[in-house]
Amino acid sequence: MDSSGPEKREHWGSKLGFILAAAGSAVGLGNIWKFPYITYENGGGAFVLLYLVCILCVGFPIMIAEFVLGKVSEKDAVGTFGVFRPDKKIFKFIGIIGVFTGFIILSYYSVVAGWTLEYTLKSLTCNEFIVEKVDYNSPELKKAIFNKHGVYDAAAKADILKNAGFTDDKTEENWKAFLDSNDTAHAAARLSIFDEVIQKAKTDLGEQKFEESALMISRQQKASEVFTNHLAKGTPMLLWHAVFMLLTGLIVFGGISGGIEKASRILMPLLFLLLGGLMIYSLTLSGGTEAIKFLFNADFAKLNRHSILEALGHAFFTLSLGMGAMITYGSYLKKEDGVVSSAITVSILDTLIALMACLTLYPILFTFNTEVSGGAGLLFITLPALLANTIGGSIILSIFFVLVAFAALSSTISLLEVVVTYTDDEFGWKRHTSTIVNSFVIFLVGVPSALCFGGNKFFTELTLLSKGDTKLNWFDSFDYLASNWLLPIGGLLIALFIGWMIKDQAKTNQIKEELGSGFYPVWNFLIKFVAPICVAVVIANKIGLIE
Ligand code: TRP
Repeated sequence: MDSSGPEKREHWGSKLGFILAAAGSAVGLGNIWKFPYITYENGGGAFVLLYLVCILCVGFPIMIAEFVLGKVSEKDAVGTFGVFRPDKKIFKFIGIIGVFTGFIILSYYSVVAGWTLEYTLKSLTCNEFIVEKVDYNSPELKKAIFNKHGVYDAAAKADILKNAGFTDDKTEENWKAFLDSNDTAHAAARLSIFDEVIQKAKTDLGEQKFEESALMISRQQKASEVFTNHLAKGTPMLLWHAVFMLLTGLIVFGGISGGIEKASRILMPLLFLLLGGLMIYSLTLSGGTEAIKFLFNADFAKLNRHSILEALGHAFFTLSLGMGAMITYGSYLKKEDGVVSSAITVSILDTLIALMACLTLYPILFTFNTEVSGGAGLLFITLPALLANTIGGSIILSIFFVLVAFAALSSTISLLEVVVTYTDDEFGWKRHTSTIVNSFVIFLVGVPSALCFGGNKFFTELTLLSKGDTKLNWFDSFDYLASNWLLPIGGLLIALFIGWMIKDQAKTNQIKEELGSGFYPVWNFLIKFVAPICVAVVIANKIGLIE
Protein backbone atom coordinates (compact mmCIF):
# COMPACT_ATOMS: atom_id res chain seq x y z
CA MET A 1 0.00 0.00 0.00
CA ASP A 2 3.01 2.28 -0.02
CA SER A 3 2.49 5.08 -2.50
CA SER A 4 5.85 6.79 -2.50
CA GLY A 5 6.49 7.42 -6.15
CA PRO A 6 4.53 7.91 -9.34
CA GLU A 7 5.28 4.50 -10.81
CA LYS A 8 3.84 2.66 -7.82
CA ARG A 9 0.97 5.06 -7.33
CA GLU A 10 -2.32 3.53 -6.36
CA HIS A 11 -5.49 4.17 -8.31
CA TRP A 12 -9.19 4.19 -7.64
CA GLY A 13 -10.71 0.84 -8.59
CA SER A 14 -13.33 2.51 -10.76
CA LYS A 15 -14.65 5.90 -11.72
CA LEU A 16 -17.79 5.29 -9.69
CA GLY A 17 -15.62 4.54 -6.68
CA PHE A 18 -13.80 7.83 -7.15
CA ILE A 19 -17.05 9.75 -7.50
CA LEU A 20 -18.45 8.19 -4.35
CA ALA A 21 -15.28 8.97 -2.43
CA ALA A 22 -15.20 12.58 -3.63
CA ALA A 23 -18.91 12.98 -2.93
CA GLY A 24 -18.23 11.43 0.46
CA SER A 25 -15.64 14.09 1.12
CA ALA A 26 -18.02 16.82 0.05
CA VAL A 27 -21.08 15.54 1.88
CA GLY A 28 -20.58 16.00 5.59
CA LEU A 29 -21.56 18.00 8.63
CA GLY A 30 -21.56 20.99 6.28
CA ASN A 31 -24.56 19.59 4.43
CA ILE A 32 -26.60 18.06 7.19
CA TRP A 33 -25.86 20.30 10.13
CA LYS A 34 -24.65 23.63 8.83
CA PHE A 35 -26.52 24.19 5.57
CA PRO A 36 -30.01 23.71 7.05
CA TYR A 37 -29.36 26.15 9.86
CA ILE A 38 -27.67 28.90 7.87
CA THR A 39 -30.41 28.62 5.24
CA TYR A 40 -32.98 28.86 8.02
CA GLU A 41 -31.31 31.92 9.48
CA ASN A 42 -31.03 33.56 6.07
CA GLY A 43 -34.69 33.14 5.29
CA GLY A 44 -34.82 30.14 2.93
CA GLY A 45 -35.31 30.22 -0.85
CA ALA A 46 -33.38 33.36 -1.76
CA PHE A 47 -30.34 32.13 0.14
CA VAL A 48 -30.55 28.76 -1.60
CA LEU A 49 -30.51 30.53 -4.94
CA LEU A 50 -27.51 32.63 -3.94
CA TYR A 51 -25.72 29.52 -2.76
CA LEU A 52 -26.43 27.72 -6.05
CA VAL A 53 -24.91 30.62 -7.98
CA CYS A 54 -21.78 30.39 -5.79
CA ILE A 55 -21.54 26.64 -6.39
CA LEU A 56 -21.92 27.07 -10.13
CA CYS A 57 -19.65 30.08 -10.74
CA VAL A 58 -16.99 29.54 -8.09
CA GLY A 59 -17.18 26.06 -6.55
CA PHE A 60 -17.59 24.03 -9.70
CA PRO A 61 -14.68 25.58 -11.68
CA ILE A 62 -12.37 25.34 -8.67
CA MET A 63 -13.30 21.70 -8.16
CA ILE A 64 -12.35 20.99 -11.77
CA ALA A 65 -9.11 22.90 -11.23
CA GLU A 66 -8.25 20.77 -8.19
CA PHE A 67 -9.10 17.47 -9.92
CA VAL A 68 -7.04 18.40 -12.95
CA LEU A 69 -4.01 19.56 -10.94
CA GLY A 70 -4.03 16.24 -9.09
CA LYS A 71 -4.70 14.03 -12.06
CA VAL A 72 -2.04 15.54 -14.34
CA SER A 73 0.67 15.73 -11.67
CA GLU A 74 -0.12 12.49 -9.78
CA LYS A 75 1.17 14.24 -6.71
CA ASP A 76 0.00 15.34 -3.29
CA ALA A 77 -1.44 18.80 -2.57
CA VAL A 78 2.04 20.33 -2.21
CA GLY A 79 4.00 18.38 -4.81
CA THR A 80 1.50 19.20 -7.53
CA PHE A 81 2.59 22.86 -7.52
CA GLY A 82 6.18 21.74 -7.99
CA VAL A 83 5.22 19.66 -11.01
CA PHE A 84 3.44 22.55 -12.71
CA ARG A 85 6.06 25.15 -11.80
CA PRO A 86 9.34 23.33 -11.10
CA ASP A 87 11.19 26.65 -11.45
CA LYS A 88 9.38 28.45 -8.61
CA LYS A 89 9.37 26.55 -5.35
CA ILE A 90 7.40 29.35 -3.73
CA PHE A 91 4.15 28.05 -5.25
CA LYS A 92 4.44 24.95 -3.11
CA PHE A 93 3.51 27.25 -0.29
CA ILE A 94 -0.10 27.22 -1.54
CA GLY A 95 -0.13 23.49 -0.90
CA ILE A 96 1.52 23.85 2.47
CA ILE A 97 -1.24 26.21 3.61
CA GLY A 98 -3.66 23.57 2.34
CA VAL A 99 -2.17 20.70 4.31
CA PHE A 100 -2.04 22.91 7.39
CA THR A 101 -5.72 23.77 6.88
CA GLY A 102 -6.61 20.10 6.61
CA PHE A 103 -4.82 19.47 9.87
CA ILE A 104 -6.75 22.25 11.58
CA ILE A 105 -10.16 21.32 10.20
CA LEU A 106 -9.82 17.63 11.00
CA SER A 107 -8.77 18.32 14.58
CA TYR A 108 -12.09 19.98 15.46
CA TYR A 109 -14.31 18.30 12.89
CA SER A 110 -13.57 14.96 14.51
CA VAL A 111 -14.77 16.34 17.85
CA VAL A 112 -18.21 17.24 16.46
CA ALA A 113 -18.30 13.97 14.55
CA GLY A 114 -17.72 12.23 17.88
CA TRP A 115 -20.82 13.94 19.30
CA THR A 116 -22.93 12.25 16.63
CA LEU A 117 -21.80 8.87 17.95
CA GLU A 118 -22.75 9.70 21.50
CA TYR A 119 -26.04 11.15 20.31
CA THR A 120 -26.80 7.97 18.40
CA LEU A 121 -26.55 6.09 21.69
CA LYS A 122 -28.59 8.69 23.55
CA SER A 123 -31.29 8.47 20.88
CA LEU A 124 -31.70 4.72 21.26
CA THR A 125 -33.47 5.20 24.57
CA CYS A 126 -34.15 8.92 24.46
CA ASN A 127 -34.91 8.89 28.18
CA GLU A 128 -32.70 11.89 28.86
CA PHE A 129 -34.82 14.04 26.56
CA ILE A 130 -38.28 13.08 27.71
CA VAL A 131 -40.41 15.70 29.45
CA GLU A 132 -44.01 14.76 30.10
CA LYS A 133 -45.05 17.30 32.68
CA VAL A 134 -44.27 20.95 32.84
CA ASP A 135 -42.83 22.38 36.03
CA TYR A 136 -44.60 25.73 36.06
CA ASN A 137 -42.59 26.90 39.02
CA SER A 138 -39.25 26.74 37.27
CA PRO A 139 -37.83 30.26 36.94
CA GLU A 140 -36.17 29.32 33.64
CA LEU A 141 -39.50 28.27 32.22
CA LYS A 142 -41.11 31.49 33.39
CA LYS A 143 -38.39 33.48 31.77
CA ALA A 144 -38.70 31.53 28.51
CA ILE A 145 -42.45 32.07 28.40
CA PHE A 146 -41.85 35.73 29.08
CA ASN A 147 -39.32 35.94 26.24
CA LYS A 148 -41.82 34.40 23.88
CA HIS A 149 -44.99 36.19 24.91
CA GLY A 150 -43.95 39.34 26.75
CA VAL A 151 -44.20 42.32 24.42
CA TYR A 152 -43.72 45.75 25.96
CA ASP A 153 -43.29 49.10 24.31
CA ALA A 154 -40.66 51.56 25.49
CA ALA A 155 -43.05 53.54 27.68
CA ALA A 156 -44.29 50.42 29.45
CA LYS A 157 -40.72 49.28 29.98
CA ALA A 158 -39.70 52.65 31.43
CA ASP A 159 -42.61 52.48 33.79
CA ILE A 160 -41.75 49.02 35.07
CA LEU A 161 -38.12 50.00 35.44
CA LYS A 162 -38.96 53.09 37.46
CA ASN A 163 -41.04 51.00 39.83
CA ALA A 164 -38.18 48.51 40.14
CA GLY A 165 -35.87 51.32 41.28
CA PHE A 166 -33.89 52.26 38.19
CA THR A 167 -33.20 55.98 38.25
CA ASP A 168 -31.66 56.87 34.88
CA ASP A 169 -33.46 56.52 31.55
CA LYS A 170 -31.27 54.10 29.62
CA THR A 171 -34.32 51.95 28.98
CA GLU A 172 -32.94 49.18 26.79
CA GLU A 173 -29.80 48.55 28.85
CA ASN A 174 -31.66 48.64 32.11
CA TRP A 175 -34.35 46.36 30.71
CA LYS A 176 -31.71 43.78 29.86
CA ALA A 177 -30.07 44.13 33.25
CA PHE A 178 -33.44 43.88 34.95
CA LEU A 179 -34.29 40.61 33.18
CA ASP A 180 -30.90 38.95 33.12
CA SER A 181 -28.95 40.04 36.16
CA ASN A 182 -28.34 37.45 38.80
CA ASP A 183 -28.57 39.92 41.64
CA THR A 184 -31.65 39.39 43.72
CA ALA A 185 -32.48 43.07 44.10
CA HIS A 186 -35.10 42.96 41.37
CA ALA A 187 -36.08 39.33 41.71
CA ALA A 188 -39.53 39.98 43.12
CA ALA A 189 -40.42 42.65 40.57
CA ARG A 190 -39.12 40.43 37.83
CA LEU A 191 -41.13 37.42 38.91
CA SER A 192 -44.25 39.47 39.18
CA ILE A 193 -44.00 40.71 35.59
CA PHE A 194 -43.21 37.14 34.45
CA ASP A 195 -46.40 35.99 36.17
CA GLU A 196 -48.36 38.81 34.63
CA VAL A 197 -47.22 37.80 31.15
CA ILE A 198 -47.99 34.15 31.83
CA GLN A 199 -51.53 35.02 32.86
CA LYS A 200 -51.98 37.14 29.78
CA ALA A 201 -50.61 34.41 27.48
CA LYS A 202 -53.01 31.93 29.08
CA THR A 203 -56.02 34.07 28.29
CA ASP A 204 -54.79 35.03 24.83
CA LEU A 205 -53.90 31.52 23.70
CA GLY A 206 -56.44 29.51 25.64
CA GLU A 207 -55.52 27.01 28.33
CA GLN A 208 -54.71 24.14 25.98
CA LYS A 209 -52.55 26.04 23.49
CA PHE A 210 -50.71 27.65 26.37
CA GLU A 211 -49.94 24.29 27.94
CA GLU A 212 -48.69 22.89 24.65
CA SER A 213 -46.48 25.90 24.24
CA ALA A 214 -45.09 25.53 27.76
CA LEU A 215 -44.47 21.82 27.23
CA MET A 216 -42.54 22.51 24.04
CA ILE A 217 -40.44 25.14 25.78
CA SER A 218 -39.70 22.73 28.63
CA ARG A 219 -38.59 20.05 26.20
CA GLN A 220 -36.24 22.42 24.46
CA GLN A 221 -34.84 23.53 27.77
CA LYS A 222 -34.32 19.94 28.78
CA ALA A 223 -32.58 19.05 25.50
CA SER A 224 -30.45 22.13 25.81
CA GLU A 225 -29.45 21.14 29.33
CA VAL A 226 -28.55 17.62 28.11
CA PHE A 227 -26.38 19.16 25.40
CA THR A 228 -24.62 21.52 27.79
CA ASN A 229 -23.92 18.67 30.19
CA HIS A 230 -22.68 16.54 27.33
CA LEU A 231 -20.26 19.25 26.24
CA ALA A 232 -18.96 19.81 29.72
CA LYS A 233 -17.93 16.20 30.36
CA GLY A 234 -14.24 16.00 29.61
CA THR A 235 -13.54 12.30 29.45
CA PRO A 236 -16.41 11.20 27.18
CA MET A 237 -15.69 14.11 24.86
CA LEU A 238 -12.09 12.96 24.53
CA LEU A 239 -13.11 9.36 24.14
CA TRP A 240 -15.53 9.99 21.27
CA HIS A 241 -12.99 12.22 19.55
CA ALA A 242 -10.47 9.38 19.88
CA VAL A 243 -12.96 6.83 18.57
CA PHE A 244 -13.68 8.96 15.54
CA MET A 245 -10.00 9.52 14.76
CA LEU A 246 -9.44 5.80 15.16
CA LEU A 247 -12.23 4.92 12.69
CA THR A 248 -10.87 7.51 10.26
CA GLY A 249 -7.34 6.17 10.66
CA LEU A 250 -8.43 2.56 10.14
CA ILE A 251 -10.04 3.36 6.79
CA VAL A 252 -7.15 5.49 5.53
CA PHE A 253 -4.76 2.76 6.68
CA GLY A 254 -6.41 0.47 4.10
CA GLY A 255 -5.29 2.71 1.24
CA ILE A 256 -7.12 4.27 -1.69
CA SER A 257 -9.06 1.45 -3.32
CA GLY A 258 -8.86 -0.99 -0.40
CA GLY A 259 -9.81 1.53 2.30
CA ILE A 260 -11.34 4.83 1.22
CA GLU A 261 -13.11 3.56 -1.89
CA LYS A 262 -14.47 0.48 -0.15
CA ALA A 263 -15.79 2.49 2.78
CA SER A 264 -17.35 5.11 0.48
CA ARG A 265 -19.11 2.40 -1.53
CA ILE A 266 -20.87 1.32 1.64
CA LEU A 267 -21.33 4.65 3.44
CA MET A 268 -22.63 6.76 0.57
CA PRO A 269 -25.48 4.55 -0.72
CA LEU A 270 -26.57 3.88 2.86
CA LEU A 271 -26.51 7.57 3.65
CA PHE A 272 -28.60 8.32 0.59
CA LEU A 273 -31.18 5.63 1.41
CA LEU A 274 -31.50 6.61 5.05
CA LEU A 275 -31.80 10.29 4.27
CA GLY A 276 -34.25 9.61 1.45
CA GLY A 277 -36.41 7.52 3.77
CA LEU A 278 -36.40 10.14 6.51
CA MET A 279 -37.17 12.88 4.04
CA ILE A 280 -40.24 11.04 2.76
CA TYR A 281 -41.39 10.48 6.33
CA SER A 282 -40.85 14.16 7.13
CA LEU A 283 -42.66 15.43 4.07
CA THR A 284 -45.79 13.53 5.06
CA LEU A 285 -45.96 15.53 8.30
CA SER A 286 -48.30 18.48 8.40
CA GLY A 287 -45.40 20.95 8.12
CA GLY A 288 -44.20 19.41 4.84
CA THR A 289 -45.79 21.86 2.44
CA GLU A 290 -44.62 24.84 4.41
CA ALA A 291 -41.09 23.44 4.37
CA ILE A 292 -41.11 23.10 0.60
CA LYS A 293 -42.40 26.65 0.24
CA PHE A 294 -39.79 27.99 2.61
CA LEU A 295 -36.97 26.28 0.74
CA PHE A 296 -38.02 27.09 -2.81
CA ASN A 297 -39.78 30.45 -2.59
CA ALA A 298 -37.21 33.18 -3.05
CA ASP A 299 -37.81 36.33 -1.06
CA PHE A 300 -34.80 38.52 -1.69
CA ALA A 301 -35.78 41.03 0.95
CA LYS A 302 -34.58 38.50 3.51
CA LEU A 303 -30.97 38.61 2.31
CA ASN A 304 -28.31 40.96 3.62
CA ARG A 305 -24.67 41.68 2.93
CA HIS A 306 -23.54 38.87 5.19
CA SER A 307 -25.67 36.36 3.31
CA ILE A 308 -23.35 36.64 0.32
CA LEU A 309 -20.24 36.05 2.40
CA GLU A 310 -21.88 33.16 4.11
CA ALA A 311 -23.07 31.54 0.86
CA LEU A 312 -19.65 31.78 -0.77
CA GLY A 313 -17.74 30.57 2.28
CA HIS A 314 -20.09 27.67 2.62
CA ALA A 315 -19.70 26.75 -1.06
CA PHE A 316 -15.99 26.16 -0.38
CA PHE A 317 -16.51 24.25 2.78
CA THR A 318 -19.26 22.00 1.51
CA LEU A 319 -17.42 21.04 -1.69
CA SER A 320 -14.18 20.40 0.26
CA LEU A 321 -12.35 23.04 -1.77
CA GLY A 322 -9.48 25.38 -1.13
CA MET A 323 -7.04 23.07 0.63
CA GLY A 324 -6.10 20.35 -1.80
CA ALA A 325 -8.50 17.59 -0.74
CA MET A 326 -9.74 17.29 -4.31
CA ILE A 327 -6.17 17.62 -5.65
CA THR A 328 -5.25 14.65 -3.50
CA TYR A 329 -8.23 12.53 -4.58
CA GLY A 330 -7.67 13.55 -8.21
CA SER A 331 -4.06 12.38 -8.04
CA TYR A 332 -5.23 8.77 -7.75
CA LEU A 333 -7.37 8.95 -10.92
CA LYS A 334 -6.69 6.66 -13.85
CA LYS A 335 -5.86 8.30 -17.18
CA GLU A 336 -9.16 7.30 -18.77
CA ASP A 337 -11.44 8.71 -16.05
CA GLY A 338 -12.76 12.16 -16.93
CA VAL A 339 -12.70 15.02 -14.45
CA VAL A 340 -15.51 17.21 -15.79
CA SER A 341 -18.27 14.63 -15.54
CA SER A 342 -17.00 13.66 -12.09
CA ALA A 343 -17.07 17.27 -10.89
CA ILE A 344 -20.61 17.69 -12.22
CA THR A 345 -21.82 14.55 -10.44
CA VAL A 346 -20.09 15.43 -7.17
CA SER A 347 -21.45 19.00 -7.13
CA ILE A 348 -24.97 17.79 -7.88
CA LEU A 349 -24.87 15.03 -5.27
CA ASP A 350 -23.57 17.43 -2.65
CA THR A 351 -26.27 20.01 -3.36
CA LEU A 352 -28.96 17.36 -3.52
CA ILE A 353 -28.04 15.99 -0.12
CA ALA A 354 -27.96 19.47 1.43
CA LEU A 355 -31.46 20.15 0.10
CA MET A 356 -32.66 16.74 1.25
CA ALA A 357 -31.35 17.49 4.73
CA CYS A 358 -33.43 20.69 4.75
CA LEU A 359 -36.49 18.80 3.56
CA THR A 360 -35.99 16.34 6.39
CA LEU A 361 -35.45 18.89 9.15
CA TYR A 362 -37.78 21.75 8.23
CA PRO A 363 -41.03 19.75 8.11
CA ILE A 364 -40.33 18.63 11.66
CA LEU A 365 -39.68 22.24 12.68
CA PHE A 366 -42.78 23.55 10.96
CA THR A 367 -45.01 20.76 12.20
CA PHE A 368 -44.33 21.91 15.72
CA ASN A 369 -44.89 25.41 14.47
CA THR A 370 -43.27 28.48 15.91
CA GLU A 371 -42.38 26.82 19.18
CA VAL A 372 -38.86 26.08 18.01
CA SER A 373 -35.74 27.97 17.12
CA GLY A 374 -33.28 27.27 14.35
CA GLY A 375 -29.60 28.02 14.75
CA ALA A 376 -26.59 25.91 15.54
CA GLY A 377 -28.55 23.89 18.09
CA LEU A 378 -30.93 22.63 15.42
CA LEU A 379 -29.40 19.17 15.25
CA PHE A 380 -28.34 18.54 18.83
CA ILE A 381 -31.06 20.41 20.73
CA THR A 382 -34.17 21.17 18.70
CA LEU A 383 -34.40 17.86 16.90
CA PRO A 384 -34.11 15.64 20.01
CA ALA A 385 -36.52 17.92 21.87
CA LEU A 386 -39.13 17.49 19.18
CA LEU A 387 -38.65 13.86 18.23
CA ALA A 388 -37.84 12.16 21.52
CA ASN A 389 -41.30 12.86 22.84
CA THR A 390 -43.21 11.46 19.87
CA ILE A 391 -44.10 7.85 19.09
CA GLY A 392 -41.38 6.25 16.99
CA GLY A 393 -39.30 9.38 17.42
CA SER A 394 -36.45 7.52 19.00
CA ILE A 395 -36.00 5.34 15.91
CA ILE A 396 -36.08 8.33 13.60
CA LEU A 397 -33.62 10.18 15.79
CA SER A 398 -31.19 7.25 15.99
CA ILE A 399 -31.25 6.75 12.24
CA PHE A 400 -30.67 10.44 11.80
CA PHE A 401 -27.57 10.54 13.99
CA VAL A 402 -26.17 7.38 12.38
CA LEU A 403 -26.47 8.99 9.01
CA VAL A 404 -24.79 12.18 10.20
CA ALA A 405 -21.96 10.02 11.56
CA PHE A 406 -21.60 8.31 8.15
CA ALA A 407 -21.51 11.66 6.38
CA ALA A 408 -18.88 12.93 8.81
CA LEU A 409 -16.74 9.82 8.48
CA SER A 410 -16.55 9.97 4.69
CA SER A 411 -15.36 13.58 5.12
CA THR A 412 -12.80 12.99 7.85
CA ILE A 413 -11.11 10.31 5.75
CA SER A 414 -10.58 12.82 2.97
CA LEU A 415 -9.09 15.33 5.38
CA LEU A 416 -6.68 12.76 6.79
CA GLU A 417 -5.81 11.52 3.31
CA VAL A 418 -4.55 14.99 2.33
CA VAL A 419 -2.01 14.91 5.14
CA VAL A 420 -1.13 11.25 4.63
CA THR A 421 -0.56 11.62 0.88
CA TYR A 422 1.60 14.67 1.64
CA THR A 423 3.93 12.89 4.05
CA ASP A 424 4.03 9.86 1.71
CA ASP A 425 4.86 11.80 -1.43
CA GLU A 426 7.08 14.52 -0.01
CA PHE A 427 9.00 12.63 2.65
CA GLY A 428 8.70 9.08 1.35
CA TRP A 429 6.94 7.77 4.46
CA LYS A 430 5.03 4.52 4.20
CA ARG A 431 1.23 4.85 4.23
CA HIS A 432 0.98 2.90 7.46
CA THR A 433 3.46 5.10 9.29
CA SER A 434 1.90 8.25 7.87
CA THR A 435 -1.55 7.23 8.94
CA ILE A 436 -0.62 6.31 12.48
CA VAL A 437 1.59 9.32 13.14
CA ASN A 438 -0.73 11.89 11.56
CA SER A 439 -3.90 10.52 13.17
CA PHE A 440 -2.25 10.65 16.54
CA VAL A 441 -0.90 14.17 16.17
CA ILE A 442 -4.25 15.43 14.85
CA PHE A 443 -5.98 13.79 17.78
CA LEU A 444 -3.69 15.70 20.13
CA VAL A 445 -4.28 19.02 18.37
CA GLY A 446 -8.02 18.35 18.75
CA VAL A 447 -7.84 17.78 22.51
CA PRO A 448 -8.36 21.46 23.41
CA SER A 449 -11.33 21.56 21.00
CA ALA A 450 -12.88 18.66 22.87
CA LEU A 451 -12.26 20.22 26.26
CA CYS A 452 -13.03 23.88 25.67
CA PHE A 453 -16.76 23.61 26.36
CA GLY A 454 -16.37 23.11 30.07
CA GLY A 455 -14.50 19.81 30.05
CA ASN A 456 -11.34 21.44 31.32
CA LYS A 457 -11.01 24.75 33.12
CA PHE A 458 -7.85 25.89 31.39
CA PHE A 459 -9.07 25.23 27.86
CA THR A 460 -12.53 26.60 28.60
CA GLU A 461 -11.07 29.91 29.66
CA LEU A 462 -8.46 30.05 26.92
CA THR A 463 -9.30 32.31 24.00
CA LEU A 464 -7.19 32.44 20.84
CA LEU A 465 -8.80 34.76 18.32
CA SER A 466 -11.64 37.20 18.32
CA LYS A 467 -14.35 37.87 15.79
CA GLY A 468 -15.49 41.44 16.17
CA ASP A 469 -16.03 41.83 19.90
CA THR A 470 -16.54 38.15 20.64
CA LYS A 471 -13.59 36.25 22.01
CA LEU A 472 -13.35 32.78 20.52
CA ASN A 473 -12.31 29.62 22.31
CA TRP A 474 -9.98 27.07 20.72
CA PHE A 475 -12.71 25.27 18.79
CA ASP A 476 -14.38 28.40 17.42
CA SER A 477 -11.02 29.99 16.62
CA PHE A 478 -9.99 27.00 14.52
CA ASP A 479 -13.33 26.89 12.74
CA TYR A 480 -13.30 30.62 12.12
CA LEU A 481 -9.70 30.65 10.90
CA ALA A 482 -10.17 27.68 8.58
CA SER A 483 -13.57 28.26 7.04
CA ASN A 484 -13.55 32.06 6.94
CA TRP A 485 -9.95 32.69 5.98
CA LEU A 486 -7.79 29.73 5.01
CA LEU A 487 -10.23 28.00 2.64
CA PRO A 488 -11.23 31.11 0.65
CA ILE A 489 -7.59 32.26 0.47
CA GLY A 490 -6.50 28.78 -0.56
CA GLY A 491 -9.23 28.67 -3.19
CA LEU A 492 -8.23 32.08 -4.52
CA LEU A 493 -4.58 31.06 -4.78
CA ILE A 494 -5.44 27.78 -6.51
CA ALA A 495 -7.64 29.61 -9.05
CA LEU A 496 -4.97 32.25 -9.71
CA PHE A 497 -2.29 29.59 -10.00
CA ILE A 498 -4.03 27.43 -12.56
CA GLY A 499 -5.53 30.43 -14.37
CA TRP A 500 -2.44 32.61 -14.67
CA MET A 501 0.75 30.93 -13.51
CA ILE A 502 1.14 27.86 -15.70
CA LYS A 503 3.57 28.85 -18.43
CA ASP A 504 4.48 25.42 -19.78
CA GLN A 505 2.54 24.90 -23.03
CA ALA A 506 2.68 21.12 -22.75
CA LYS A 507 0.98 21.30 -19.37
CA THR A 508 -1.66 23.72 -20.64
CA ASN A 509 -2.35 21.33 -23.51
CA GLN A 510 -2.77 18.48 -21.05
CA ILE A 511 -5.34 20.52 -19.13
CA LYS A 512 -7.12 21.41 -22.37
CA GLU A 513 -7.22 17.78 -23.32
CA GLU A 514 -8.70 16.81 -19.96
CA LEU A 515 -11.48 19.36 -20.23
CA GLY A 516 -12.30 19.04 -23.93
CA SER A 517 -11.98 21.88 -26.44
CA GLY A 518 -15.63 22.92 -26.14
CA PHE A 519 -15.70 23.29 -22.38
CA TYR A 520 -12.15 24.55 -21.86
CA PRO A 521 -12.80 28.21 -22.83
CA VAL A 522 -15.83 28.40 -20.55
CA TRP A 523 -13.93 26.98 -17.62
CA ASN A 524 -10.90 29.15 -18.43
CA PHE A 525 -13.02 32.28 -18.24
CA LEU A 526 -14.58 31.21 -14.94
CA ILE A 527 -11.27 30.28 -13.34
CA LYS A 528 -9.28 33.28 -14.64
CA PHE A 529 -11.84 36.00 -13.87
CA VAL A 530 -15.12 35.05 -12.27
CA ALA A 531 -13.92 32.84 -9.41
CA PRO A 532 -10.92 34.97 -8.32
CA ILE A 533 -12.89 38.22 -8.48
CA CYS A 534 -15.76 36.79 -6.43
CA VAL A 535 -13.42 35.42 -3.77
CA ALA A 536 -11.27 38.56 -3.73
CA VAL A 537 -14.33 40.72 -3.23
CA VAL A 538 -15.43 38.59 -0.32
CA ILE A 539 -12.00 38.71 1.29
CA ALA A 540 -11.68 42.46 0.73
CA ASN A 541 -15.04 42.85 2.35
CA LYS A 542 -13.92 40.84 5.35
CA ILE A 543 -10.79 42.88 5.80
CA GLY A 544 -12.95 46.00 5.55
CA LEU A 545 -11.41 47.31 2.33
CA ILE A 546 -14.84 47.61 0.79
CA GLU A 547 -18.18 48.08 2.39
N1 TRP B 1 -17.07 19.08 2.84
C1 TRP B 1 -17.21 18.59 4.17
C2 TRP B 1 -18.54 19.03 4.75
O1 TRP B 1 -19.34 19.61 4.06
C3 TRP B 1 -16.08 18.98 5.07
C4 TRP B 1 -14.75 18.73 4.46
C5 TRP B 1 -14.20 17.55 4.18
C6 TRP B 1 -13.85 19.69 3.98
N2 TRP B 1 -13.00 17.70 3.56
C7 TRP B 1 -12.77 19.01 3.44
C8 TRP B 1 -13.90 21.06 3.97
C9 TRP B 1 -11.73 19.71 2.84
C10 TRP B 1 -12.85 21.74 3.38
C11 TRP B 1 -11.79 21.08 2.82
O2 TRP B 1 -18.82 18.79 5.88
